[in-house]
Amino acid sequence: MATTARNPTSAKIYQNRLDLLSETRNQVVALLNQTLTLTLDLKSQVKQAHWNVKGMNFYQLHQLFDAIASQVEEYSDLIAERVTSLGGTAMGTIRIAAEASTLPEYPFEIIDGKDHVIAIADRLALYGKTVREAIDQSTDLKDAGTADLYTEISRAIDKYLWLLESHLIEN
Ligand SMILES: [Fe+2]
Repeated sequence: MATTARNPTSAKIYQNRLDLLSETRNQVVALLNQTLTLTLDLKSQVKQAHWNVKGMNFYQLHQLFDAIASQVEEYSDLIAERVTSLGGTAMGTIRIAAEASTLPEYPFEIIDGKDHVIAIADRLALYGKTVREAIDQSTDLKDAGTADLYTEISRAIDKYLWLLESHLIEN
């Protein structure tokens, strides 16, 4: 199959009864599918931290990373189902995510809890920036439903970033 067939921004759009302009739907679906690749990538990277963190704060970080991964996974489902609600095709396999995500790969050599917190905080911040931009993009496209979904995700990412960065503040 050609690579273009896996392009998250060029998947098939189905007709439906939504009172959104097809051009709006096409652009929002492409935006959501791009976000989906980052979301799946982020979830796998937070799991990487959940599995491999070590040190004296192991257990609470192990649990915190799992809570973040579960929330991010839930958002991947909401994003994918927003795509299909708009008539689009959700493009959410691991291969597509690996090809299209703009997040940097996880640093496999790190061990200590603080290094994992920094690595996940860096990626959450990048993801949060993309999501905040998507609020404006979907608002400009006059899709309040998608903007609302992005706003919900943005608020949660802000909160998890606070939980992570609180570990990094020293007196
Ligand atoms: Fe686990």
